[in-house]
Amino acid sequence: SSDDSKGDPVAPSTLPSTFNPPADSILWRPDFLLGAATAAYQIEGAAQEDGRLPSIWDTFSATPGKVLHGDTGEIACDHYHRWESDIDLLASLNVDAYRLSIAWPRVMDEAGRPNEAGLAFYRKLLQRLKGKGIRTSVTLYHWDLPQHLEDEGGWCNRATAYRFAEYADLVSRELAGLVDFWSTLNEPWCSAMLGYGTGHHAPGRSDLRAANAAMHHLLLGHGLALRALRRNDPASSKGIVVNVGRGTTDGPTRDDERAAELFELQHNDWVLDPLLRGQYPARLYEELWPGARPDIAEGDMAIIGAPLDFIGINYYFRTNVRSDGAGGYVEVPLADVERTQMGWEVYPDGLSDLLVAFDRRYPNLPPVYITENGMASDDAVIDGAVVDDQRIAFLNRHLAAVDEAVRAGVDVRGYYIWSFLDNFEWAFGYERRFGIVHVDYTTQQRTPKRSAELVRDFLARRRERG
Ligand code: NOJ
Repeated sequence: SSDDSKGDPVAPSTLPSTFNPPADSILWRPDFLLGAATAAYQIEGAAQEDGRLPSIWDTFSATPGKVLHGDTGEIACDHYHRWESDIDLLASLNVDAYRLSIAWPRVMDEAGRPNEAGLAFYRKLLQRLKGKGIRTSVTLYHWDLPQHLEDEGGWCNRATAYRFAEYADLVSRELAGLVDFWSTLNEPWCSAMLGYGTGHHAPGRSDLRAANAAMHHLLLGHGLALRALRRNDPASSKGIVVNVGRGTTDGPTRDDERAAELFELQHNDWVLDPLLRGQYPARLYEELWPGARPDIAEGDMAIIGAPLDFIGINYYFRTNVRSDGAGGYVEVPLADVERTQMGWEVYPDGLSDLLVAFDRRYPNLPPVYITENGMASDDAVIDGAVVDDQRIAFLNRHLAAVDEAVRAGVDVRGYYIWSFLDNFEWAFGYERRFGIVHVDYTTQQRTPKRSAELVRDFLARRRERG
């Protein structure tokens, strides 16, 4: 080791961490997909290359005070230039599948015409993945709305849903055959609520009515896009990715319990009910947000509620709430619980609880993929290694929660670690490291963390067993 005066880091080989799912785990099944995920704005960089238009995240991150340390996605992991070696690195981890997103502003100009250079990038990328035998899971909208559409009202404007369907139509015509799983949207709750409701994300508006209009148009855009995908790429599997939150209470009263139910209604049911039942939860606009009901045109809910081939679930943490005394909830963080670099509680039971609850609530729940799960930690390269023990334990425990849900009858078919690379964590910039591969943003050097090595070794063992 190099510098003894700083104290010896524990040598990785002596650490107890293992990634060794029990013999009866679904992870051993060769058809259960284990993969990693990224998103365009978080890794690509090259924000002004090959005719890419500005997106709402370029605008937002260039606005002082919006992103920690003033970080932007201008360069990010420079994946736009390093995609070949990045895919090789990914393949060396033996993953079954890779989830990525396409940047809308790269592939379409303001008039809706294709941008060939942008399309060529994704075509090459997907071909390389296919060539390595990696299944491709492509998200059409991971938050990078072209700025010119925001200038016309963004997701609050119904027309954006139709623009999105045109984009989906173009991309699925161009890339048909290269994509195994299409997802229309990533986490519409975050786009609507954080983007238009609280202003923590781009475009940074804070207006509950706007958030509700945005949600409706996002979901409508999803339904319209789904039709285009079905038309253009019938052999692929199509769905949507939603974030879900577990809300519980440590409060003693029935009102506290209700507060926890309300939390889940406003996070989960708000999105899942329209998708899987073709209607918004009745309480939402009758009781909770009567002034924020969006304009719903005839036929919208049938478009939104069209059958899905799969649903992607992103799960991260639980939120402890209590009644606010006025029919709402307040978050009351629990003391003495394990937390990540984000401050999020590590709570694997939330994943199994939610999966089982959704399975019971929605008889038509399609097959589930965990499209994101993972954690941020303050990882550093020491003596050439990154020992991310907390992440390894996190992954083990959440995969055990998946097993528990499977035993309870939920049809879970895959799990993607968020993320393949450390990347631009939105309003938190580069300080929060979610990757199983460390990125040094000065040199762009990639270093697989111990978690990546363990996943790689597990997948090699699984492959040997056949
Ligand atoms: C959700 C988002 O889809 C992803 O972009 C983000 O980086 C992770 N969760 C972690 O916050």
